[in-house]
Order: sequence, then C-alpha cells, then structure tokens
Amino acid sequence: MTKYQIRGGNQLHGTIEISGAKNAAVAIIPAALMVDGVCRIENVPQISDVTLILKILRELGANVQTVNRTTIDIDCSHIRNRQVPYELARKIRASYYLVGALLGRFGWAEVPLPGGCYLGGRPIDQHIKGFVAMGAEVDVRNGLIYAQVPGGGRPAGGQVYLDMVSVGATINIMLCAALANGMTVIENAAKEPHIVDLANFLNSMGADIMGAGTDVIKIRGVSRLRGGSYSVIPDQIEAGTYMAAVAAAGGEVLIKNVIPKHLDCITAKLVEMGVDVEELDDAVFVRRSGPLHRVNVKTMPYPGFPTDMQPQIAAVLCTAQGTSVLTESVWENRYRYVEEFRRMGARIQVDGKVAVIEGVDRLTGAPVQACDLRAGAAMVIAGLSAQGVTEISSIEHIERGYETLVEKLAGAGADIRVLSVPDKEVQPQVG
Ligand code: EPU
Repeated sequence: MTKYQIRGGNQLHGTIEISGAKNAAVAIIPAALMVDGVCRIENVPQISDVTLILKILRELGANVQTVNRTTIDIDCSHIRNRQVPYELARKIRASYYLVGALLGRFGWAEVPLPGGCYLGGRPIDQHIKGFVAMGAEVDVRNGLIYAQVPGGGRPAGGQVYLDMVSVGATINIMLCAALANGMTVIENAAKEPHIVDLANFLNSMGADIMGAGTDVIKIRGVSRLRGGSYSVIPDQIEAGTYMAAVAAAGGEVLIKNVIPKHLDCITAKLVEMGVDVEELDDAVFVRRSGPLHRVNVKTMPYPGFPTDMQPQIAAVLCTAQGTSVLTESVWENRYRYVEEFRRMGARIQVDGKVAVIEGVDRLTGAPVQACDLRAGAAMVIAGLSAQGVTEISSIEHIERGYETLVEKLAGAGADIRVLSVPDKEVQPQVG
C-alpha cells in the first residue's frame, strides 16, 4: 500500500503545468468508438481513469497505440465485441458513455452500471430519458444497462428536456445523437467546458453539433464520423486545485497551460478571500501573502462554482479569518471528508447540504484518508498548510484524476512524498 506523506508549512513557489482535462478525456475516448478511422488524441492526462477507459476500448477490439507521453492513436474501425466487461466498467463513472457511443453507432448496447466516487445517489434516469426520446428501448436489470433500437438500425433524432442540469446525460445523449437519423435537441443542457470540448472533438470528426456551451444543444445526426486529430482542453479542476493549494500554503506560483476563462468562477472566490490572481494568455499567476478572509460559497453547474472544487475550497477556508458557509447544491452527500478535516483540528459543522467552517489559526498534521477523488485533493491541500506531518491513505482515489500530483507539488517546494507501507502494517478497517 502507498500513502502520501506531507510535512506542512512550506510555501509554494515556481511553476506548475496543468494536464489535459480528466472529464473531457473520459468522454472523448468513448466518442472515438463512434469514429471510422484513426483518432489521434493529444494532451491526454496520464491518470488511472484514462488507463481504465482505454482498457475497456481495447477489450472491445479498438487498436490503441501510444504515440508519446500525452498522445494516443485510437482506431475503432474493427470493433468485434460490444459487451463491456463488468470488472472494468464498475470502477469508473465514464464507462456509461459507452451506452451512448455503442447505441449511436450500432443501435445496441449492453453496459454494466458504472462506478465512480460515492457522492450520494447517482441516478441515470435522464440518460435513459434521452435514449428513449431517440427511439431506443432501455432496460436496467441484473446490474446491466440494455439499450437497443427496436427492429435494428440507428436511433432517430429526438427532443429532450433535462429535468436537471446533468453533465453525464448531456454527454451521453450528444454521443448517441451524433450518428442518429435526424435532429436531436437537448434543452437545459449542461454547459461545462468538457461538454464544449466533446462537441468540438465530434465536430472535428465530421459531426454537426451546434450550441454546446449554451443550454440548448442541437445535433444533426450524420451517417459517418471520420478520423482526425484533436487536443484535449486543460483540466479546470486540476488548475483550481493548485490555485487553492497556493491560497492555503502561501507563496506564488505560475499555473501554466490553462484556459483562464474556465477558472473565472474559482478565481473570483480566491480574490474575495484576499488571494492575488493575475490572468495571462494561457496561465494564471497566483500569490498569497496576507491573511485569508472568510467567504460564502455555493456550488452550481458551470459557470457557477464547481462542486468538484468544493472540498478543496473547504480546505482553504479551514484557516481563513472568520466563519464561512459552504452550500452544496449538486450532490446529495459530498461532506464525507469533514470527519477527516476534524482530525486535523478543523472546526466544521454540517447540516444537510450546508457546512459552516469556523477558521482556525493552524491545522495540525494527522493520519487521514482520501474518501474520494476531490476529497483526497482537499486532504493534500490541508496537509500542505498544516503544522507537522499528515499521512494520507487510499491515495488510489487521488490518482484516478491527478497526474503526477506529488512531482508537481514537490517541484513547487512542497515537502510531499509517496510512502510505501508494507501490507502487514495495514490494519483491517472495522465498522
Ligand atoms: N442526476 C439525476 N439523474 C441523472 C443524472 C444526474 O438525478 O440521470 C443528478 C445527480 O444525482 C446530481 C446532478 O444531477 O445531483 C448532477 O449530476 P451530473 O449528471 O451532472 O454528474 P455526472 O455526470 O455523474 C460529472 C463529473 C463529476 C461532477 C459532476 C457535476 C464526470 C465523469 N464526472 O458527473 O465529476 O461532479 O459532473 O459537475 O464527468 C469528479 O471529477 O470528481 C466528479 C465527481
């Protein structure tokens, strides 16, 4: 087993380079399944969620070649298997994009229910509503999602109004609609940067998608998508995580390879807290020298403050002056990490979707657990600002979404390393 060990107290200085966006890459790679020909995908992050989704594609018969560290070629011209393996699908949320991709291309899909972080219930009713609107029959039984166009052939276009803004449903419906017979309209669509990135990828392969990035997306189905090359956008949440790390630990860091516009919602809160953020063309310069001020934060779909930054901003607010109020409005249960923060001396009370954080002068290092991906990133931030040593276990959650996190932070002066713990020292968890 491995852990992260952090000796807190070092300010961060230097440059951190941001990788390709996880949530864009895990949508674009399944989209390559719909393409007849070779897709060259650049700026692919080296994280375990990407490794898993590529493994699934290989199992289905895709030819995946590594061109260099961040570039892959995927050729799905000869898909021989359309049954997605359970053991792989259950480990990752994005495996359910294979329903949209397979249904769109072949009119038929059989995909195990997905995995991903536990954030409360993660229903897929809006995905199903979209597929049904496109003429498919969908059944969820025995842990599998079965979707099929009755009588064979591809789905038809359809009109879908999403009951809530859903990133996953918008992506899945867009995938399926790209090769459908006719026009699909998604209303109340999600507007996240990775939705636009997926639409740009599909359009560059010959799809006809308009309006991505607004709440109405129109997709005119085409008969075929052809190969080409595409570069994944930088990761908004990875960049936001390092911005929050500088805010918590102090110092000044140039965060490179970002789209500053995507960071506006995060920048605005950090500035309100007293952090200096300077936007450059493809970088942000973040500096924190004075005290942190309290703020209130409410998570919202893009362009609001991202739920995937909620635990990280909470880590910063733990040592801000005064009392901050955090409201989670996307997920039902995203405060499981609070218990871990309390071990480090944080003062946080949670009532339903609201967390009240009373800033303390200093957190203190402690053994803690990464209970999910973003909670794990928040533990790292808390460890950087804490006095003493923090050891974070269950780091496999963090490695699902952050490429070379230890190297990036150590390169900016953090005292962080990976510790190998012999298995016999690992105590079984009780309860
Ligand atoms: N929802 C439904 N029914 C549906 C779909 C969603 O009720 O059919 C609800 C959810 O329960 C939730 C809300 O709608 O309350 C939003 O869920 P959404 O579908 O937008 O989330 P997702 O697609 O499952 C993606 C990201 C998450 C991120 C959310 C919100 C990926 C692979 N995952 O999840 O990212 O939190 O959007 O922005 O893109 C992460 O990267 O750490 C992560 C969890």
